[in-house]
Amino acid sequence: MTTCIMEDVRMIIEVSDVVKKYNNLDVLKGVTLSIREGEIFGLLGPNGAGKSTLMNTILGLLRFNSGSVKILGKDFSKHATEIKRKIGYVPQEIAVFETLNAIDNVTYWGRLYGLRGNELAQMVKKALEFTGLWDRRKSKVSTFSGGMKRRLNIACAIVHKPRVLFMDEPTVGVDPQSRNHILESIRIMNKEGTTVIYTTHYMEEIEAICDRVAIMDFGQLIALGTIDELIADHIHEVCLRLEFTANAAESVKVIESFDGVLSFSVNEEILEIKLDKDDSRIPLILEQLIKQHFNIKYMAVEKPNLETVFLQLTGKKLRD
Ligand SMILES: Nc1ncnc2c1ncn2[C@@H]1O[C@H](COP(=O)(O)OP(=O)(O)O)[C@@H](O)[C@H]1O
Ligand SMILES: [Mg+2]
Repeated sequence: MTTCIMEDVRMIIEVSDVVKKYNNLDVLKGVTLSIREGEIFGLLGPNGAGKSTLMNTILGLLRFNSGSVKILGKDFSKHATEIKRKIGYVPQEIAVFETLNAIDNVTYWGRLYGLRGNELAQMVKKALEFTGLWDRRKSKVSTFSGGMKRRLNIACAIVHKPRVLFMDEPTVGVDPQSRNHILESIRIMNKEGTTVIYTTHYMEEIEAICDRVAIMDFGQLIALGTIDELIADHIHEVCLRLEFTANAAESVKVIESFDGVLSFSVNEEILEIKLDKDDSRIPLILEQLIKQHFNIKYMAVEKPNLETVFLQLTGKKLRD
């Protein structure tokens, strides 16, 4: 039964061993990945990792040196017109006409996607409402804030209700309110059936919206899976930090008796314990300490996340 369901999942994008070089610099070093119909797929990596290059390669905007890319089961170069009408693209750099108003910008894109007449007008209205810009539809774009321009850029990319939407760092430089609006819109569009490919260097955004994530560094995919899978595969310890009112050094005797304690250190009244991944021991440790009258002032458990995974895999922080 399970096998059947797995086979039914359509791969909407298939990238196989793609290599892209600029002069002698390998910017994509043999990237392979598949994206399933209906998912929000995140591409996470620091600046310069190759996210935009990979996205532009999939979109047929950039030629590559070797490998293959299929989108909606087809080769872009041979079916460009057909594929273009089914995809939307929000580029990293905002691309809108500053001297036109919002409605004319979105209408321009709608026409390019083949919409006409009443259908065009309806779809433009829907896209502007969806991005929260309908009330400002007659305003010149040059009067818009950065966040509004970003949202307009998105309206232009979704006017034809694409089956697949590519978004390249769509929240860079926007205010928190626009950012939340953008993330919420992506969730809604996805629920309505759009597959989304989303690049960012913010792991919080990936955690908020993505079903699966590929982590990229120096032109390579270094991990791929759901967030839970990546944490399970790559993180093998949990850090518990306790601050005592006094006698931290003596608490070590209690800690030593527990299995699964990998290491610990005491600094003034702060005890830091590294445990193997089984964090069910944490309540037991606390119980013992309290029983033995240690007075705990603060405690914190460092929960593993994508940042920890990235650090584990590369030895550096995402935004160094
Ligand atoms: N047109 C270009 N010519 C030469 N090098 C480029 C060009 N575009 C991108 N690069 C290089 O390719 C690498 C990946 O860039 P990019 O895909 O933009 O990364 P990201 O989107 O992850 O920030 C970087 O080292 C960048 O300097
Ligand atoms: Mg980029």
